[in-house]
Amino acid sequence: MMFQRPPAPTPLNKPLGTIPLLFAMRRNPLGTWTRAHYEEMILYGESVIGEVCVVNDPAGIRHMLIDNAANYHKDDLQQRLLGTGLAGGLLLAEDDMWRRQRRLLAPLFTPRAVAGCIPAMAQSAQWLVERWSRQRPQRVIDVACEFSRVTLDVLERTIFPQGLGRDPSQFIHAVTNYFETVGRVDPLDLLRLPEWLPRLGRSRAKPALQFFGEAVQAMIDKQRAALATGATQRDQFDLLSALLCAADPETGASLSEEEISANILTFIGAGHETTANALTWTIYLLGTHPQWRSRAEAEADALLAHSDELSPEEAPVMRAVLEESLRLYPPAATLTRDAIAADVICGQRIQAGTRMVVSPWLVQRHKKLWTDADLFDPSRFLPGAREKIDRFAFLPFGAGPRICIGMGFALQEAVILLAHILQAFRLDPLPGHRPQPMQRVTLRPEGGMPMVLSLRPKKARP
Ligand code: HEM
Repeated sequence: MMFQRPPAPTPLNKPLGTIPLLFAMRRNPLGTWTRAHYEEMILYGESVIGEVCVVNDPAGIRHMLIDNAANYHKDDLQQRLLGTGLAGGLLLAEDDMWRRQRRLLAPLFTPRAVAGCIPAMAQSAQWLVERWSRQRPQRVIDVACEFSRVTLDVLERTIFPQGLGRDPSQFIHAVTNYFETVGRVDPLDLLRLPEWLPRLGRSRAKPALQFFGEAVQAMIDKQRAALATGATQRDQFDLLSALLCAADPETGASLSEEEISANILTFIGAGHETTANALTWTIYLLGTHPQWRSRAEAEADALLAHSDELSPEEAPVMRAVLEESLRLYPPAATLTRDAIAADVICGQRIQAGTRMVVSPWLVQRHKKLWTDADLFDPSRFLPGAREKIDRFAFLPFGAGPRICIGMGFALQEAVILLAHILQAFRLDPLPGHRPQPMQRVTLRPEGGMPMVLSLRPKKARP
């Protein structure tokens, strides 16, 4: 059976009351949006969790993320949730600390540096193809889990060339546990109650945090020793050495231990789980839209006939499919900020302290910004059509100074992995299984994404 409308929670007719809202936020924040959130341009309201403003208007989003970005800091809820582990890293840092770190790490992600990762990404893709080739035909695999594994492999071949020093499955397990526990919005955090009140999620995250702490410290110690003895050369993509050797151009100061370890965790967490999610939903959507799968397969065959290595610019169909999947299932579904001072956005007065929400999930499914917003139609992103999309109506990687530093890296990696997979395999949805998107820091399919793996019929290949 073919599902044409990709799965998503049905919008509510009216907002939830206080207690149901607090619980629904913990279960799955996507289920709390009402029809109005998909139809209005800006929604401002007072509730038990304080003043909240949801901005869908592209001009308002531009104002918040670019024109007056200095007035909107990463909000205290995000700091409370992810701070256990990531405080002091690029994702959560603000002001001078953020500027210093972004300046330091930007050279690792220039278009040239990212293009230099193409051969390593192609090796990871071949590794995955070999791994799947050993499976028996019609085997059901959890593609969410498989993509977590391969995107971690990409990190080990690129920005962490010295490896993560542990079995990758341990990292995947710890990252999943971390997102599942601290990533669940706790009612006490929503109500801004003091930190000394115990949060259930955070105590359950302890084993994952202990694992991260030990693994990251071992990576730092090993690399410091290697750098000190000259046993290793700094690689141009090497994040760990960049962090360890950093010196402020003015003061010569190095990064603190907290900044170093928070950034290692930030890049492991942000650098593989997001791309893995994007690939998971893309493969699912292709499995439910065979006409687009055939087009993408034809493109993959044609490109890989010349070279194992390719860039997103060479692959307009696969890129369009990926972008349409990022529109429907943005891995970072909600961007949140706190307003520092009062402001006016699209005529709406904003008080200082307001919780600001820009949700790629809402904006990219907004009825006034997209035609047939809930349907999968990659032709929106094909050359000729893509240029007409408002920059601030499609923001899976955010926008402005805090835009994802790994955007080019992620798109390139996703296109390379997708091409190699499509050339060799078919993945079909498990009959009767309809995956539900759950927001747990990233947008994950509840219970994973079981799909039926088979080799592509040989005659279809050139
Ligand atoms: C499909 C994959 C990805 C998606 C959808 C994604 C999405 C995002 C978004 C929306 C932001 C901005 C958050 C905000 O404004 O609050 C962000 C920031 C960030 N991303 Fe990504 N990301 C992806 C892949 C990656 C990769 C591959 C890396 C690293 C290798 C990475 C590292 C980061 C970091 C460090 C930040 C913080 C940047 C800063 O604040 O300066 N991301 N990402």
